Amino acid sequence: MSGEVDLSKLTTETQVVAAGRPAKQPDGALNPPIALNSTFHEGGPIGYGRYGNETWSALEDAISILEGGKSLIFSSGMAAISSVFSLLPDGAVVVAANNGYQGTTTLLQKLHESKRLEVRFVNLANTDETLSAIPGAQMLYLESPINPLLEVVDLPTVIRAGKAAGCGVAVDNTLATPLLQKPLTLGADIVIHSVTKYLSGHSDLILGSLSTTDPELYARLEQSRRFGGAIAGPFEVWIALRGIRTFAIRMQRSQENALELATRLSKDGRITKVRYPGLPTDPYNLIAKSFMKGFGAMISFDVKGTVDQVDLMCNSSRLITNATSLGGVESIWERRRRWATESKLVPENLVRFSVGIENVDDLWADIEHAFTAAKIK
Ligand SMILES: Cc1ncc(COP(=O)(O)O)c(C=O)c1O
Repeated sequence: MSGEVDLSKLTTETQVVAAGRPAKQPDGALNPPIALNSTFHEGGPIGYGRYGNETWSALEDAISILEGGKSLIFSSGMAAISSVFSLLPDGAVVVAANNGYQGTTTLLQKLHESKRLEVRFVNLANTDETLSAIPGAQMLYLESPINPLLEVVDLPTVIRAGKAAGCGVAVDNTLATPLLQKPLTLGADIVIHSVTKYLSGHSDLILGSLSTTDPELYARLEQSRRFGGAIAGPFEVWIALRGIRTFAIRMQRSQENALELATRLSKDGRITKVRYPGLPTDPYNLIAKSFMKGFGAMISFDVKGTVDQVDLMCNSSRLITNATSLGGVESIWERRRRWATESKLVPENLVRFSVGIENVDDLWADIEHAFTAAKIK
């Protein structure tokens, strides 16, 4: 049989297909098994189902190749994020977004209120504001593009500043994905994914991951998963690995659709503002271009209409699903402020749109239909 290829030398588009496969051997399977074991015969490196299994290892290997670090799978993106904060000592100072993904922001608000951590909430996309909050902090917790306002953080600059100040730097890379940016190569210590989204890509599971290049940090995070117990079921992990095989091509197609729809929406009088870093007129276009390989497949736009009209619009689409979440093959939108925990910095009439891989003209026709149904003029 021919030998193994060096995956680290391949492009991301090829890595997603080739990584996380069992070693080649005659009659060996191309895909890992779904490891339905709670325990193992003694004497091996794993020992117990809460510590690892072959299916986790396969997905972890794939994400490790994509992000350029060593990875751990968790039961959800939030479990992975909680594990990161669990490493910090009581009272540690964290710099984080004042308008980031609402799950993370809500968790950080609770940790701050209980005095478990001291969180400095800043506008991460304002580089000066972020840099001035770093002195004395133990962790810089970044997210870019920021969900749902799609502001782009100057990752090279703020990661460099965080490291120079002796801060641990974590980056939630869920929206950009390793196809567009690799924060570990920019010097970050930890990269986080809600694997639920683009990596798995079919809105059929909840999983998270952490990746790091630091063996000591990896060991601490592994212990946190082992004893925190936020472990993934092997079936979801297997499905996620299957989803990863098409991740690059899905992302490319969704991104093309997103640029086209953002362009059409930006010329439409029924929209007061389109937020998409891929538009040349977007305030984050230049910074995104300076270090990202693309602009992603999320669009947010402010609709000229009342909250009731925007809700009706989201409910009137027939192809685009009115639901939360993002990163699946199917297009999904929602009015973000329908969630009580969403940042008040997000306008009431903002629709977050996760653009899928459907035909772009079918999507546009559905948007037109929804506008008309809600009498948005
Ligand atoms: C940017 C971002 N990070 C983390 C999460 C949390 O992931 P999960 O729902 O897998 O726990 C989400 C979920 O929407 C997200 O959008």
